Amino acid sequence: MHKLTFRALLVGAALALLTSIAHAETVIKFSHVVADNTPKGKGAALFKKLAEERLKGKVTVEVYPNSSLFGDGKEMQALLLGDVQLIAPSLSKFDRYTKQLQVFDLPFLFKDLAAVRRFQDSPTGKALLKSISKKGLTGLGYWDNGMKQLSANKPLRMPEDAKGLKFRIQQSDLLEAQFKALGAFPQKLAFAEVYQALETGVVDGAENPWSNIYSQKFFEVQKYISESNHGYLGYMLVTNTKFWEGLPDDVRAELEKILDEVTVQVNQWAEELSTSDRQKIKDSGKTEILALTDEELAAWKKTLQPVYKEFTPKIGKEIVDAAMAAAAGK
Ligand code: LMR
Repeated sequence: MHKLTFRALLVGAALALLTSIAHAETVIKFSHVVADNTPKGKGAALFKKLAEERLKGKVTVEVYPNSSLFGDGKEMQALLLGDVQLIAPSLSKFDRYTKQLQVFDLPFLFKDLAAVRRFQDSPTGKALLKSISKKGLTGLGYWDNGMKQLSANKPLRMPEDAKGLKFRIQQSDLLEAQFKALGAFPQKLAFAEVYQALETGVVDGAENPWSNIYSQKFFEVQKYISESNHGYLGYMLVTNTKFWEGLPDDVRAELEKILDEVTVQVNQWAEELSTSDRQKIKDSGKTEILALTDEELAAWKKTLQPVYKEFTPKIGKEIVDAAMAAAAGK
């Protein structure tokens, strides 16, 4: 081949390569374990829509719901390995990465989602988004699901009623201690396994927010749901720091703006779904929803007090104090 032609070919190839790099789309895989019609499922879909609209040609978002790509136990590792770029595990599931986030699992700490929001918006709450930064992970925000309700095939009105029963729990030592304080047997199971475990009697009961009870049909395999509101289930939206910092500045800034917008919407959906999914469960007639009296709730709270004693030093007293102050509206 003529020398000049060869050189021209080389230059052309190099140019083509550069152009393709310049136009390379960033693919963000967002993996989660819940259904599409939940606060997190809807949030992931909205994030995809806004990111692809506003960063057209620069960002594509692939959403994998219902543990279809990675389930519990795998998604955090996958994020660290770069196999996914965005996940939103429940705060309970950060147990192995930091003990600080377990503050969110303390029973009866937050009365409602408004109390949780006050803490998450406080300086301590915001600082907790960085509690996993040493592990190479960046917390991008908090998303609500809802307050947890206890369910079983027998009515749970008093803490003694839970004694001897097997309960499915998330991957959290604090939640394990919570059920042990009741004299129950906690079992850590991945979310994708819960329905079957309840159906086949591998476990007798569980604790879940209304939207998960509804969307996973847990109410069809639990005869009673006690309206205990005893704990919070929410998420930390998390990404791989190297990936995030490697994004072009303008893309990262736009994605952060979008996420802030989506977060406000998710938290509104969480409030709405907590009410509407509870109503749908009630209307189904497949389970009985038990209202607990103030005395009954006080008994649960008292029985669960040892959990505070055991976990406050692990979480950090200043974090627990700040959460209590925010929860009380101080
Ligand atoms: C659970 O495992 O019960 C929840 O964390 C699932 C979820 O993501 O809401």
